[in-house]
Amino acid sequence: MDASADTIPNSLLAWYDSQARVLPWRSPPGSPPPEPYRVWLSEVMLQQTTVAAVGPYFAKFLARWPTVMDLAAADDADVMAAWAGLGYYARARNLLACARAVAARGGAFPETEAGLRELPGLGAYTAAAVAAIAFGERATVVDANVERVVARLYAIDEPLPAARKAIRACAEQLTPARRPGDFAQGMMDLGATICTSRKPRCLLCPVAQHCAGRLEGAERFPVKPPKAAKPQRLGRAFWIEQGGAVWLVQRPGSGMLGGMRALPDDGWSARADGSGKGPLAGQWQSGGVVRHSFTHFDLDLQLMLYSGGDLDRLPADSGEWWPLDRIAEAGLPTLFAKAAQLALGQR
Ligand code: ADE
Repeated sequence: MDASADTIPNSLLAWYDSQARVLPWRSPPGSPPPEPYRVWLSEVMLQQTTVAAVGPYFAKFLARWPTVMDLAAADDADVMAAWAGLGYYARARNLLACARAVAARGGAFPETEAGLRELPGLGAYTAAAVAAIAFGERATVVDANVERVVARLYAIDEPLPAARKAIRACAEQLTPARRPGDFAQGMMDLGATICTSRKPRCLLCPVAQHCAGRLEGAERFPVKPPKAAKPQRLGRAFWIEQGGAVWLVQRPGSGMLGGMRALPDDGWSARADGSGKGPLAGQWQSGGVVRHSFTHFDLDLQLMLYSGGDLDRLPADSGEWWPLDRIAEAGLPTLFAKAAQLALGQR
C-alpha cells in the first residue's frame, strides 16, 4: 500500500477527470469554477439532502432569483414557500440572512474560508466547500460521503462521532493545493457512486490500492455507534374548511418548521403527549394519522377535521383562508402537505 502524500489525490483527480457526475451547479473537471452564488446555493441545498432531490429546487431558485442580489431582495415568505419540501427549514432562513449580508457587501462573496465563515448563517462545511470549489482555496471539505471514504482509506476504527476528529485530520492531510475544489467533489462522487455505505465497489475504485480499510472489509468503516431508538411524539393538526378554502397559519420564525405556512396544530413540536388544545370550540372528528420522521423523533400527527361550530371565533390575525384549488402553491412543508392530502382524500 502506498499512501504517500500525492498519490491518492492524483489518482482521484485522474478518475474525476473522466467520471465526474454532470451536475447543474458544476463546471466540468479542470475548467474555471462556476459563479460563487451557484456554488453556495447548491452547497446549502445539498446538506442532508440528495443530489436528486436538490436538482429541481436549484433550477427553480436560479430561475426566480438569478443573482444573490435578487435573492436578498426576496420576501421571506416567498423563499420559505419555494423551499417547502426540501426540509431542514433553518437552512432557508440562514440562506436569506447570508444573501442579505452578501448584498450589503455589494453582492460579492468573500473569497476565503475564513472570510466566508464570518457571514451569518454560513457554517463550517459551506465555507470550506465554497472556498475550495468557487475560489480554489485549499480548504478541507468533509461531508458524509467524504467521511466514509476517509474512514475507509485509513481504516479508522474509532466509532463515530468521536472519529470525526481523526477523519478531519486525515482529510486535511490529503487535500491538495492543486484543484482542491475538484478534489472535494471527486471525493464526494467516489463516496456516492463507488465507496457506498453498502456493497462498496472496490474493484472499480481508483484508490483501492491505497485503502487500508479494504483489507479488513471496507463496509466495516466508518464504525457506527449503537443506534438509539428514536423517540415517538404524538400531535394533532386541525383542518378547518369553509367555502373552498382551508385555514392556514404561519409558524413562528424559529423552532421546528419555523416561518413555514402550516395547518394549525397543538404544539407537538414542543410537547410529547399530544395533549394540546385545538384552535376552536365545536365539533371535531378524526381524519386519520400522518406518520412523519424527523431527524430526532418520529411523529404521529392525528388529523382533526372540523365539522361545525363557530368560525367567527377564529382570530383573524392568526392565519388566512387559503383556496383549496391553489393548495400546492401554499408552500406547505412535507408533514402538512401529507396531512392536507389526507384531508382532501376524504371529501
Ligand atoms: N454534495 C454536497 N456538495 C456536493 C457537490 N458539489 N457535488 C455533489 N454532491 C455534493
